[in-house]
Amino acid sequence: MGKLLETFCGELRCLFETSSVSEEAIAQVRQLLGRFAVKPVFLRDVLSRQAAGDNVGSVMYTPDTNEVTVFRDPDGLFSLRLYVWDPAVSYPIHSHGSWGIVSCVAGAIQERKFQRLDDGARPGYARLKESARSVLKPGETTTILPLDQGIHQMDGVVQEHASVSLHLYGKPVRRGFLEFFNPHKDSVYRVTYPGLNNRLYALQALGAIREDWTAEILEQAAGDKSPLIRYEALKALAGAQKEKAMEMIEKEASKENSLRESFKSLLDSWK
Ligand SMILES: [Fe+2]
Repeated sequence: MGKLLETFCGELRCLFETSSVSEEAIAQVRQLLGRFAVKPVFLRDVLSRQAAGDNVGSVMYTPDTNEVTVFRDPDGLFSLRLYVWDPAVSYPIHSHGSWGIVSCVAGAIQERKFQRLDDGARPGYARLKESARSVLKPGETTTILPLDQGIHQMDGVVQEHASVSLHLYGKPVRRGFLEFFNPHKDSVYRVTYPGLNNRLYALQALGAIREDWTAEILEQAAGDKSPLIRYEALKALAGAQKEKAMEMIEKEASKENSLRESFKSLLDSWK
């Protein structure tokens, strides 16, 4: 890690270790992030390593395809990531598993914030209303709240080259997936790590085919150690064997796991 980045991360650690995440701490971090964002030379070592493909052990596997890992705190207090916004690409509206602070590093980035109008009780359904729109220039910052309080979309608005932003994320309150929103379909869907996405699509394919052998595989997957795999397996199993799936979801909704609320709403939506 370069000296500047080390200093930056050291200052961040001090802030997080000595205080809880108060408004004052957020304001301080926001200032700090903005100051570093206009001196992108602190990214030199990280970017030169990543450009050379020498990134073993330092990359965070996330659902985002436009991300470069900058730093991951070993105690999980925070992470720093760089996002690249290609002007040719439309990026999805999404929510986050943690709070975050974003500063523009290069180019210009439009941020649209959204308010969620429904109560989230219907699986797969979400109605959004745009609540704010702004354009961030280098050094300017915006903040993000976790889950439905921080739904937003970002886009690079310089046409000649990609825009870049630096993101600081705190300790997650939800892990394992992001939620993407499609306002044209009033829908919300989960996106996870590339490796896990393959498994989730296999489960969806099995749910759509609906034959005896597919139900067998889905039942087996419903016993997986990952709650996300169990959730998707039972959702898919319900197509062919609703009663059996409901019985198993009822058990999931009554025990402690990170997706308990999702299992509950799935069950409620079928009753
Ligand atoms: Fe975001």
